[in-house]
Amino acid sequence: PPPTPGFAFPTPHSQEAHEPEDNFTSKWTRADARQIMAQSDANVETGENSMSPAVTMPEIPRDFPEMNDKVWVWDTWSLTDAEANQLSYKGWDVIFSLVADRNAGYNFDQRHWNARIGYFYRKTNADPFNDPWIYGGHLFPDGQSIGNTEWSGSTRLVARNRVQVFYTATTFTDRDARNRGGGGAPPDAAIATALGNISADSTGVRFANFQHTKLLEPDGVMYQTKEQNPGFAFRDPFTFEDPAHPGKTFMVFEGNTGGKKGDYRCKAEDLGYRAGDPYAETVAQVNNAGAYNQTANVGLAVADNAALTRWHFLPPILSANCVNDQTERPQIFIQEENGDTKYYLFTISHQFTYAAGMRGPDGVYGFVGDGIRSDYQPMNNSGLVLGSPTDLNLPSEQPEAPTEGQNGRQFQAYSHYVQPKGLVQSFIDNVDGRRGGSLSPTVKINFRNGVSEVDRTYGLNGLGPFGYLPTNVHK
Ligand code: FRU
Repeated sequence: PPPTPGFAFPTPHSQEAHEPEDNFTSKWTRADARQIMAQSDANVETGENSMSPAVTMPEIPRDFPEMNDKVWVWDTWSLTDAEANQLSYKGWDVIFSLVADRNAGYNFDQRHWNARIGYFYRKTNADPFNDPWIYGGHLFPDGQSIGNTEWSGSTRLVARNRVQVFYTATTFTDRDARNRGGGGAPPDAAIATALGNISADSTGVRFANFQHTKLLEPDGVMYQTKEQNPGFAFRDPFTFEDPAHPGKTFMVFEGNTGGKKGDYRCKAEDLGYRAGDPYAETVAQVNNAGAYNQTANVGLAVADNAALTRWHFLPPILSANCVNDQTERPQIFIQEENGDTKYYLFTISHQFTYAAGMRGPDGVYGFVGDGIRSDYQPMNNSGLVLGSPTDLNLPSEQPEAPTEGQNGRQFQAYSHYVQPKGLVQSFIDNVDGRRGGSLSPTVKINFRNGVSEVDRTYGLNGLGPFGYLPTNVHK
């Protein structure tokens, strides 16, 4: 697209691959992410969606159905193999979700302090419009997992009747804060795994005999610790195999740049402006604005044994220093394009985690390169792939406190996860004041050559069935 007057050019990115072990971290720069505003319409009526329809999630109706009346449901993933195929198991589709009790006296925004991994199943050939997901309960019995709160992860079928769950073991030591649903001491965070049995018969799916192992805790050098920053992020493991490195298993996860919060200083590479660009910011301006406080990264680790119970860190594959503080639930999606193998890195982020001077919506961000570690090109030049309808001309907000006048759909969905065939599932957060805790209608994106577009011919004006996580491999 031609340059937008008033906006600097995005950073050139070669997409060139490096070895996974190399010390090269791709940067999602300020110049890149400012393209979100360059591509946004500065002249919409206040509170209308200012983003292109190509990157806007279709509107969720306010009368959405509740998936389950006992638990709120948010971050969700399917049973997969090492290539992110979604596997049916003995005629059942199985999904895993963070859940919290709807009737325990805390509110929806306090769910994070009380999160558990639950699971649901339904027949593989079920009608996704009419056959509900059946709730199977908590995946792990009480008190069994590492940590007292279970956050996001992924689940793989590793043998005929064996599953391996990768999850975030979060431990809130401050009980009062936990009950209050906020504040208090920062939690411990570890990435953990649990190996267990899966079985099914005509009545449903069950899990048993999980063995839990702690895998990784932040090192404070590449990945920030809670001592360095009470608001640190270390979570959301997603494992995969890379055809370019047979025999190895990798993991991407959400992290922050190591070091004490506030000590980082933005560098020219974090800004990424071309020399002489008249719309460039200076390093001093950006640091004076305090943008160094936002230091998200996407971490990489590699397994040291075939059982995937020993891992070591590699340098992050992407950093968003001075751009955004959270790059959550990362996933790698490998696709053949024009005879080349392309690696898409998808991650989710929020409006409120952007650094000073930056603005973008809640939703999915994507990057494309020639390998798992490469000089990633932000998709659509900006990184934005799928945002909730938002007037980006208004200041950023949080789902718990939206203001009148902003688009009522700005927090309609979060925790998007890109499934095979470009189907994107997410959970409903806040649709025009009605809080969610249930899965969104699945939408579809088509993407190729680093460019994506919401498919509005999919489903009803772009909205597929609620909570549609179909399996694409049937065993
Ligand atoms: C995304 C997220 C994840 C985390 C979970 C905790 O919605 O922030 O990063 O695992 O929510 O509830």
